[in-house]
Amino acid sequence: MQVGPQARILDCGVGNGSLSMALNSILTSPVEYHGIDTSAEMLVQASSTMQHAGLRAHLEQADVLSLPYDDQSFDVVMAAHVLEHLPDPQRALKEMTRALKPGGMVFICVTRHSLFGVLVQFRWRTWAITEQQGVAWLHDCQLADVGYQPVHLSSCAGVASTAFWARRPQ
Ligand SMILES: C[S@@+](CC[C@H](N)C(=O)[O-])C[C@H]1O[C@@H](n2cnc3c(N)ncnc32)[C@H](O)[C@@H]1O
Repeated sequence: MQVGPQARILDCGVGNGSLSMALNSILTSPVEYHGIDTSAEMLVQASSTMQHAGLRAHLEQADVLSLPYDDQSFDVVMAAHVLEHLPDPQRALKEMTRALKPGGMVFICVTRHSLFGVLVQFRWRTWAITEQQGVAWLHDCQLADVGYQPVHLSSCAGVASTAFWARRPQ
């Protein structure tokens, strides 16, 4: 992922901050991190974990379906293992796109169809989002340069996940 210096990055459903910290570990220039989560408890965890990792982030309690930010205010808007928990993931994706600057990038990671994915979906009652479905949703948000790739993160859900990315046209 190409991210310029001073980029504004929003992590939706930040959890304990693991996605922001993973991104931070591969970026070479300083960026501005923002994170939202509906859970106050997770925000406390994110604050502590991220601080421990030396990462300063602006954290807010908010819903990805109604982000408390202006249109076109972030260079990257991302969410890992969040959309599949929502009754209407596509609505969340549209809201994430609204907050994205022209030329900015959406990155999402979701559990996919697989044996392990089925266990995750059964345990947490989540959606299994197919590659075709994810791509169609990103196109429906008028995003370009859509891509996807199976990922193998260290977390359990990561074993059965797909990463999708796309760019908002200029
Ligand atoms: C499975 S965790 C993933 C956390 C983190 N992104 C990660 O990959 O480790 C899902 C997170 O999404 C949050 N969440 C669920 N529904 C949400 C919503 N509508 N808006 C914002 N956050 C939400 C949960 O509180 C939880 O922290």
